[in-house]
Amino acid sequence: MILIDSLTAIKTRRSIHQFKSEEIDTAILQEIFTYGSYAPTHYMKEPWNIKLYQHDGKKRFVDAIIASYQRIGMLNTADDTKTVKMIESMRRFLMNIPHHALIYFEKETDDVRYEEEYAAVCAFIQNTQLAAWEYGVGMLWTITPYMHDNGFATDIGLDADSVKIAAVMQIGYPEKIPSHKERTPIMEKMEIISE
Ligand SMILES: Cc1cc2nc3c(=O)[nH]c(=O)nc-3n(C[C@H](O)[C@H](O)[C@H](O)COP(=O)(O)O)c2cc1C
Repeated sequence: MILIDSLTAIKTRRSIHQFKSEEIDTAILQEIFTYGSYAPTHYMKEPWNIKLYQHDGKKRFVDAIIASYQRIGMLNTADDTKTVKMIESMRRFLMNIPHHALIYFEKETDDVRYEEEYAAVCAFIQNTQLAAWEYGVGMLWTITPYMHDNGFATDIGLDADSVKIAAVMQIGYPEKIPSHKERTPIMEKMEIISE
């Protein structure tokens, strides 16, 4: 069910921080990610891979995030009341997000190829966000410290030596849409060289 045209989606899409509890049909998410996959991709590598966490599947993912934050010192490991409450509140916050999509790709040893794959994955993510917006679905593109923790990758079944986690998309129907964020006039960032 497509509601708006793509230029309107580009201008009106917002990063969503608050989601309704209602889950999105998996078939709809598949359609949205399919639109994402029309992103440009050198050598047709289509480097993007997705782990979609939802329903009970979120528990393992959230446990891995908390364990990672403890390992890298962003969360205490003590079992005092304050720490327990903090962990519970983080767990509740993450579990209340209807879907988490972790996006990763196979690492390339050559720098140019690595950049090509990462850039294609970012194009895939933005295509996906825009397609989602047309379906009335909100997303938040996140890059967080646990993505650089090899132990986190292992916990979710990935080998950090061979794959790079590019992002985690938080996904759901928007509870609140942030107000319009104006952009800098493009001429302040553009130099036209005509001769
Ligand atoms: C690569 C990337 C990483 C981001 N990581 C985060 C993040 O970790 N947490 C967050 O709240 N927003 C994150 N954002 C969203 C930006 O904060 C957001 O795009 C920006 O505030 C502009 O708002 P808009 O997307 O609604 O236009 C990220 C965006 C990009 C492109």
